[in-house]
Amino acid sequence: MTAFVIHHYTISQDEAVFPEPQIFKPERWLRDGRERPRPFGSIPFGFGIRGCVGRRIAELEMHLALARIIKQFEVKLDASVGEVKAVNRIVLVADRPVNFHFLERKHVSC
Ligand code: HEM
Repeated sequence: MTAFVIHHYTISQDEAVFPEPQIFKPERWLRDGRERPRPFGSIPFGFGIRGCVGRRIAELEMHLALARIIKQFEVKLDASVGEVKAVNRIVLVADRPVNFHFLERKHVSC
């Protein structure tokens, strides 16, 4: 058997796949007719018949969780944390403990 592992971090930093890879550009993920340089540039859930069967559930859960958190709290990074770098541990993790402050928003109805 030959194990084959896609190195997502390297692909994500490839200028040919993601122009200006170091810049935070969330709009690069929008699907509103924008040009996508490589449709297979990011496949965190795999692809094809052995692709992740939980993808839709996972994406839905992530969207819902994030939307609920942002709706209820203003999230601020603790000023003492400094610049956070990514470390590759199969998935990316922060290189240090990251402290967030969750400041409750006023007048939120969930
Ligand atoms: C962020 C969350 C998740 C990520 C990034 C992820 C990623 C992956 C990846 C990369 C594979 C291998 C695909 C391949 O070999 O081409 C996989 C397979 C699989 N995932 Fe996920 N997954 C996630 C969440 C879930 C959830 C929530 C479930 C179940 C509810 C799930 C169920 C499965 C199953 C059953 C397989 C094996 C499919 C097969 O071999 O036929 N995953 N996942």
